[in-house]
Amino acid sequence: MMFGRSYLSENSRHHLAMAGCDLASIAKKHGTPLYVMNEDLIRHNARNLVSGASSRYAGCDVAYAGKAFLCGWMCEIAAQEGMRLDIVSGGELHTALRAGFPPEHIIFHGNNKSMQEILYGVECGVGRFAIDNYLEIQMLSDAARRAGREVDVLIRVAPGVEAHTHRYIETGMLDSKFGFALENGEASRAFRCAREQGYLRVRGFHCHIGSQILETTGLEIATRRMVGFSASLVAEGYRTEELDLGGGLGVRYTQADDPPSIDEYLDSVIGAFLRECHRQRIAPPRLLLEPGRAVVAEAGVTLYTIGAIKDIPGVRKYVSVDGGMADNPRPALYGAVYEAVLANRPGDAATETVAVAGKSCESGDIVIQETQLPPVEPGDILCVLTTGAYGYSMASNYNRLPRPAVVALSDGRSRVVVRRETYEDVVSKDVLGKKTAKRLLAAAREHDGSTRWQSS
Ligand code: LLP
Repeated sequence: MMFGRSYLSENSRHHLAMAGCDLASIAKKHGTPLYVMNEDLIRHNARNLVSGASSRYAGCDVAYAGKAFLCGWMCEIAAQEGMRLDIVSGGELHTALRAGFPPEHIIFHGNNKSMQEILYGVECGVGRFAIDNYLEIQMLSDAARRAGREVDVLIRVAPGVEAHTHRYIETGMLDSKFGFALENGEASRAFRCAREQGYLRVRGFHCHIGSQILETTGLEIATRRMVGFSASLVAEGYRTEELDLGGGLGVRYTQADDPPSIDEYLDSVIGAFLRECHRQRIAPPRLLLEPGRAVVAEAGVTLYTIGAIKDIPGVRKYVSVDGGMADNPRPALYGAVYEAVLANRPGDAATETVAVAGKSCESGDIVIQETQLPPVEPGDILCVLTTGAYGYSMASNYNRLPRPAVVALSDGRSRVVVRRETYEDVVSKDVLGKKTAKRLLAAAREHDGSTRWQSS
């Protein structure tokens, strides 16, 4: 146990170790920046969720929300661990299908699915579409008619609950781009509209109130409202077969965070669900939960090599690393706070307060505003903790930086599951005729000849 994390330790070489692997050696072998995923911990989390859910209520399934971190390898793990998969785009769907994920276990979300995405989903036979708006009801019904097959759908409901999280990741309110609100009757209207369409089988309802939720009250209120809504439809002769209550379980980014454990989360949501079904006298529908972050966040760390160090006496010391907002936009986007450790000497006393700066050309590219580290030198390996969710999946090529590789660790072994991008990958989509390239080079040389940067 190091830094309050049971999955980190110091090995006999006095390096940081995770899943039986030496993280300093991993950095040397695979280069930095590097996303490192602890496969053992992902599987452990997945199993706790899947078995914990079904042992509390046999009708409860768990879907992994792929937006948190998706690649072919992660699809394989989700399938092996008995999870369904929540996707939100044609690209995520393609990733899953290419990895052999069973389409009937996929739930297709999204507030503005294109016709192309809808057709792709219908043709490959995704298990559920979570319908988000009236246009989608129309488009999906048309697509299903064209394909000559019925499609199973859930209606996305905004239950009007505050998740008490960052504004950008709060989704269940009336004033939200997602879903049909309960409080103004939109959810009932959309339900009736979808039911009247041909080719759509309304199986039930979906909601997701937000992400990085650290206390379960909001989830319980939303659960009760969804059950109450289902109960209100009994009078119309409709029996809700399924409720999908979304994801949202928070994780520990810093030692100050105290998220509910997986067991506490399941107790609270499934408990509220079963009690409310009983109270409303309805047979409990099947239940689906869709955690993303809680499966992968703490299983991921990012390794960086420390480069330039700028000390402004009396002001601040900036320690720069070889990545930053391109591989993890969360600090810049949400003011997210992380903790970091030196992978090559984790036992050294952290005596200095520094800012960890990224390498992108923006003052805002600060990985950690303020953290305690031992005195560092260029070449030290910095390990930023809890980067497994929404880092790789939100990464960009800003500044034309190639995206890092993803390496999975399990039981002392490491394996590349996403290879590092090369400069050629970065330019591979540029459309530039060969002649154009030659002409530009010639023009640049000519131009060079007339500038004061001329070498002779
Ligand atoms: N289901 C739906 C419909 C969702 O929209 C989301 C997340 C999830 C499940 C999974 O939520 P989780 O269990 O991971 O909290 N980029 C942000 C998070 C955005 C979450 C979007 N939806 C961040 O980095 O914090």
